[in-house]
Amino acid sequence: MDPLALGTLSLQSKYILSPMEEVSDVGFRRLCYAQGAGLTWTEMIRASGIVRKNKATLDLIDTHDPDTLTGIQLFAVNERELAVALYRLEQLAHSSHRHFMNIRAIDLNFGCPSPDVIRIGAGPALLKRTSKMEAMFDKLAHWRKTTKLPIGAIGAKIRLGLNQQEQDHKVYLRLVEPASRHLDYLAVHARHAKQRSRDPVSWGAIGEIKAIARIPVIGNGDVAGEDDAQRMLAQTGCEGVMLARAAIRSPWVFRELTGTGPALATPDEIDAAEREYLAIAQRFSTKPKYVAFHRENFARMRGAGAPVVPRNSNLA
Ligand SMILES: Cc1cc2nc3c(=O)[nH]c(=O)nc-3n(C[C@H](O)[C@H](O)[C@H](O)COP(=O)(O)O)c2cc1C
Repeated sequence: MDPLALGTLSLQSKYILSPMEEVSDVGFRRLCYAQGAGLTWTEMIRASGIVRKNKATLDLIDTHDPDTLTGIQLFAVNERELAVALYRLEQLAHSSHRHFMNIRAIDLNFGCPSPDVIRIGAGPALLKRTSKMEAMFDKLAHWRKTTKLPIGAIGAKIRLGLNQQEQDHKVYLRLVEPASRHLDYLAVHARHAKQRSRDPVSWGAIGEIKAIARIPVIGNGDVAGEDDAQRMLAQTGCEGVMLARAAIRSPWVFRELTGTGPALATPDEIDAAEREYLAIAQRFSTKPKYVAFHRENFARMRGAGAPVVPRNSNLA
């Protein structure tokens, strides 16, 4: 199955499900993991919401399934907010939210292109501010040493800069050394934050990062299936590959990537997967909006309709 070690986690494969807003819920993650994904992520969760114990935010931490290896992706504006959120997370895990004990990894989001994030100087606006990023890496690494949560890997998901100019100045190279000092991996979405999903990716930058990183690098961007994944691994030397839209198109892409079956499922397999998804969604009270999205997507997989991507997505 092509395993990969990240921190102390032994992943069943090097193919990782991306964090996806309004998509990566517990039922969908379970399906992708069953097909061979090595690790799965919740969607981006705002640290400020954890600090305030906001119910809608806490509901996004739907790590109810202990059999699906899952990490949470956190978005924090600075290291102080991150520290308080981590402290609260631990408190909640020990009191009312036992399923938080299933969180096995933590990823810091430095890629969210939303204007309100950038306006406050957070997310990809921090990519050129290496010392601020390092302060966050350091906080996370310190917390990991003392937490009772079974965190096996910590890392960050970055873009190549806030805009083309920053990418041209290769701001992404400066953060590799601090990341290598504190983190277990770096995930690289090979676009800058002003680019949209249809804009070209720059896999070359993943290779440049890999050449100087002392931690595993996970490449991301425009991997549609087996051929792309092999090309990305060969061209960049990255250790892992992260997929978002290809997993929406077919969660069975992970079975193709791990050499255990075709990328497209039969109608019977889709029916069985949908039944299991709905049972999990009901059991763990997945939000109706998410369930509606996946039902529509399963229907699309049965036919030959156009791929669906939820509105308000990070990448819209
Ligand atoms: C519907 C949707 C939601 C997304 N939400 C997130 C998110 O919460 N956090 C994040 O870091 N990236 C998010 N992304 C970006 C993806 O994780 C990924 O970096 C991007 O789609 C490129 O990968 P791909 O070419 O495999 O789709 C989202 C993308 C999509 C399509």
